[in-house]
Amino acid sequence: MTENDPNFQGLTVASFESRRRDEIAAIIEKRGGNALVAPSMREVPIPENRSAIDFANCIITGQIEIVILMTGVGFRHLITAIEKHVDLQAFLNALSDITTISRGPKVVAAMKEVGLSPTVKVPLPNTWRELLQAIDAEVPISNQVIGLQEYGVTNASLIAGLEARGGQVQKVKVYEWDLPEDTAPLEENIKQIVTGKVDVTLFTSANQLNHVLKMADQMKLGEQFRSALRGTVICSVGPTMSERLRDLGFPVDVEPENPKMGPLVKLAAAKSADILVRKKQIRVALSETGPDVNNTQAAWYNSPFMKACRREPTDVTPVWLMRQAGRYMEEYREVRAKTTFLDLCKNPQLCSEVMCTAVEKLGVDAAIIFSDILPILEPMGLDLEYAKGEGPIIHNPIREANDLSRIMELESADSLHFVMETVKQTRADLPAHIPVIGFSGAPFTLASYAIEGGSSRNYLFTKTLMYRDPGAWKDLMERFSRAITIYLNAQIAAGAQAVQLFDSWAGCLSTDDYRRYVFPYVKSIIAGITPGVPFINFATGNPQLLPMLAEAGAAVVGVDWRIRLDTAWETIGENYAVQGNLDPLSLFADHIELRRRTKDVLDQAAGRPGHIFNLGHGVLQQTPVENVQALVEMVHEISSR
Ligand code: CP3
Repeated sequence: MTENDPNFQGLTVASFESRRRDEIAAIIEKRGGNALVAPSMREVPIPENRSAIDFANCIITGQIEIVILMTGVGFRHLITAIEKHVDLQAFLNALSDITTISRGPKVVAAMKEVGLSPTVKVPLPNTWRELLQAIDAEVPISNQVIGLQEYGVTNASLIAGLEARGGQVQKVKVYEWDLPEDTAPLEENIKQIVTGKVDVTLFTSANQLNHVLKMADQMKLGEQFRSALRGTVICSVGPTMSERLRDLGFPVDVEPENPKMGPLVKLAAAKSADILVRKKQIRVALSETGPDVNNTQAAWYNSPFMKACRREPTDVTPVWLMRQAGRYMEEYREVRAKTTFLDLCKNPQLCSEVMCTAVEKLGVDAAIIFSDILPILEPMGLDLEYAKGEGPIIHNPIREANDLSRIMELESADSLHFVMETVKQTRADLPAHIPVIGFSGAPFTLASYAIEGGSSRNYLFTKTLMYRDPGAWKDLMERFSRAITIYLNAQIAAGAQAVQLFDSWAGCLSTDDYRRYVFPYVKSIIAGITPGVPFINFATGNPQLLPMLAEAGAAVVGVDWRIRLDTAWETIGENYAVQGNLDPLSLFADHIELRRRTKDVLDQAAGRPGHIFNLGHGVLQQTPVENVQALVEMVHEISSR
């Protein structure tokens, strides 16, 4: 090993690799790391596996038309489990006659051992996403019975994807994972992490994480362990592992392009020292700064936006736009081309970059953090995906009271720490006079996503639950409200100067239903927010709700374009600031018309203190960016006093 080869320089590196523990320990030590390797799992074949035998018979008799093989080890176990009970040659012949889909190279190798080769090979990086893409490209599965050889835990996203394409899934499990027989080394590694003695943690298979967390929970160290683990440099062997880590709220700091042990350790050795420094800085900052909401000396405190929130007079009407950073902007599309939307949301550095670029390009007076309303659903137990062209999907929606037990209480904002890091990073990167706005989805809108599983036309399932089972509804709304309060306060502690609640779907409710099924919860959220921080309460679709948005205790009420701004302000009363309300489609008009419409909104505000100019809803994807820039200029110019 030469001097320039990446070296851990004495950092302590934990790994949970089981089968190849000696090998990984040797590579870590060779790269100058202090290796703590503790096996975390043991493969246990299922004895007398009746369902494997049934599965094989279904294949032989033609009742299964397509087979997906997930792992090489699993395929070999499947053969072992059935060979004494069915005619093995008949089984292999049947397999060669139907469509077989191999998830990765190890499956191909295992199939070759018995003289088979798959019909479809899933391309790298071999996650369930590529698998579904390969199916879309090569195998029509509608109305087909698909046999799925699973490994470890069931992959709900894959099954939902297959079912969404009209396939009927028949699963077979050939082995299970259990904790190792001797758990002492694993317990010791967990203690070392909890006491801060570990710098770098390596994960080499997705089930390791579940096992380590299970063990930590058994040791009653669950929360401490999760928090301490986030302080280490978290290194993932590949995309499937990374996805599991992120789903459970752990940021991935290092992932090699080639998903193997050697490249993983090499990259970790190269990068860990720098990442550790950055992580420590953020931790210290988050624990020390706390809310600094009444710092009257801060540049942002005296910005037009903050003054308007407090209904103080300003020289110019402040303006920012909902969805000001997004697909209508080329710089955003470039960043987005390299990553998925959810991964972008979990990358604080990139989130800050995206928002700061938009703020600079547009010249707006406030920056909302770059994130989304839905990631909070993940740590609460919902399986979120942003599907290309379809918008958000929840793969495991809740439909009835029984499902509510699946919605986990958000005990702390730790699992959403990437959002707090985004706040912190954005605050640090922005000019001091630009306030940072934190945000959350409102309980009704979040509940509707969780219940409908995606966007909806008439909120059938949401309203069914609400009307049929008010007790379950109350329970759900209380759970969301507690989570949102914790989440917004954590954003404030991380450096947000104001917060906004988005109730994008509340407009489908009558005033009576809003009063009864939504208002108490929004009110409880606002009551729980760090005092002194302006709260912007925004809902769209039904202007009749405006007085209740104000009554809930907000400092600022967000108004959409369906009502005149002056009428809205009169109904709410002068004690509130207002934010709005240009129709976002005005941005498709020519500059003369855009100017006329902009002036019209400003005229209705009539220079009263407490107006924040905004659109009535977010910027649309097709919007010409130069019109957005022109709008910001017009607001500043026309309102200059
Ligand atoms: O500039 C900003 O305002 C910052 C970030 C922001 C996003 N979403 C980024 C985003 C904010 C504040 C949101 C809020 C949000 N997200 C709302 C409330 C506001 C509203 O429009 O009513 C809602 C309902 C969502 C849910 C959501 N997120 C949907 C329905 C979609 C897909 C469809 C769409 O409009 O793009 C998203 C994805 C999303 N959120 C994108 C962005 C930039 C596009 C993702 C991509 O790049 O593919």
